[in-house]
Amino acid sequence: MLEDKDRIFTNLYGQNDWRLAGARQRGDWNDTAAILARGRDAIIAEMKASGLRGRGGAGFPTGVKWSFMPKTSDGRPHYLVINGDESEPGTCKDREILRHDPHKLIESALIASFAMGAHKSYIYIRGEFFNEARHLQHAIDEAYEAGLIGPNAAGSGWDFDFYIHRGAGAYICGEETALLESLEGKKGQPRMKPPFPAAMGLYGCPTTVNNVESIAVTSTIMRRGASWFSGLGRPNNAGTKLMAISGHVNTPCVFEEELGVPLKDIIEKHGGGVRGGWDNLLAVIPGGCSVPMLPREVCDTVLMDYDSLRAEGSGLGTACMIVMDKSTDIIRAIARFSQFFKHESCGQCTPCREGTGWMMRVMQRMVEGRAEIEEIDMLEQVTRQVEGHTICALGDAAAWPIQGLIRRFRPVMEERIRAYKAAHGGGRLVQVPA
Ligand code: NAI
Ligand code: SF4
Repeated sequence: MLEDKDRIFTNLYGQNDWRLAGARQRGDWNDTAAILARGRDAIIAEMKASGLRGRGGAGFPTGVKWSFMPKTSDGRPHYLVINGDESEPGTCKDREILRHDPHKLIESALIASFAMGAHKSYIYIRGEFFNEARHLQHAIDEAYEAGLIGPNAAGSGWDFDFYIHRGAGAYICGEETALLESLEGKKGQPRMKPPFPAAMGLYGCPTTVNNVESIAVTSTIMRRGASWFSGLGRPNNAGTKLMAISGHVNTPCVFEEELGVPLKDIIEKHGGGVRGGWDNLLAVIPGGCSVPMLPREVCDTVLMDYDSLRAEGSGLGTACMIVMDKSTDIIRAIARFSQFFKHESCGQCTPCREGTGWMMRVMQRMVEGRAEIEEIDMLEQVTRQVEGHTICALGDAAAWPIQGLIRRFRPVMEERIRAYKAAHGGGRLVQVPA
């Protein structure tokens, strides 16, 4: 479990001043020029050595991503784009950084931009985060006024500008290439990858897109060192992570914890335990809603990190867990996610546009039990047709929760169908193709 001395986000609950004076007291902006003086390669090498993996959900190694940016200029500007479009259901961790630690983010953006040869950084903030954008803008204004950003930022000799762009409520704009399209003023639809943004990103220029938390931890890693960060957590799952617990626990919250701690201990310690006790637990979705759920027996032992959750057929995602106790109608819960993904699909590729609607409609019948048992297999097959056959990860995200439901709770689905038939006189309801 994480000790107080190893916390990065020491103002997570807004208990202290989030403005410049408070940030300076917490150590932010302390001789930032000395960090930049180490040079681009040294900063990237330190980030690689830290083992930091992307905190937005995909877990791609951050230092490696930075190293994809061209080392020499071909005349095109470089950009750092920060993804603050936090919209994953159940996920509300970046919001706390924007609210309570905006200077940690701005200083870290300067360091990261310098390391990647970028003089400009944009942050794309979820439109609903009105107060968060206001706090961040205030902090940006303070930083300009103090000479910490702008020309010769923090006395480093590097010119750096930082801009906020506010989204307008589309979940898909959190997908990195849809975000870039939206930032360019176009309809927010994902692009095919490759080319990856490092080769052709914002306005066709080399760009790195990183999650708010991935950037915000940079200044602390540079000050305390890669070995300090990589010494926390487990190999390949290094460091601390902002996590959240929502749903059927006694104290839903956002907190910072070391990776690799047992999920059960986290729920007990931070979430105050499952409502009605651990035996009342039905399932946990460990990170947002786009990773498969884990039933109670797996939750007894699994560790909260990338590799342990992957080994159980799930994933860390955003590490913002949704806890469901035995009062949950698990089929209805997953059907609600299906409705969400159908609504948020941008519609440009057929498997996702048609598949999300199809999955939603079958799931809605499954909630009532108004289906045939064979349709469970057919639904599973459709999720496999969508998964991996779309332009962006939204198709996968729509498929995986249903796969998790069928894998872990198939008897519940079958029982619901049998109960419906018993109540409605038997008979076939749906013609299922062979
Ligand atoms: P991804 O695995 O396709 O990419 C991750 C990052 O690595 C991207 O920046 C990508 O450009 C880069 N990358 C991957 N392979 C590369 C290569 N060969 N060369 C250069 N760069 C490469 O995953 P994606 O689609 O960016 O994110 C999906 C995740 O986002 C999901 O796992 C989900 O958990 C999470 N998510 C988070 C949300 C939130 O609110 N924080 C909302 C929705 C999804
Ligand atoms: Fe759009 Fe869905 Fe295709 Fe992503 S997978 S590009 S959201 S239609």
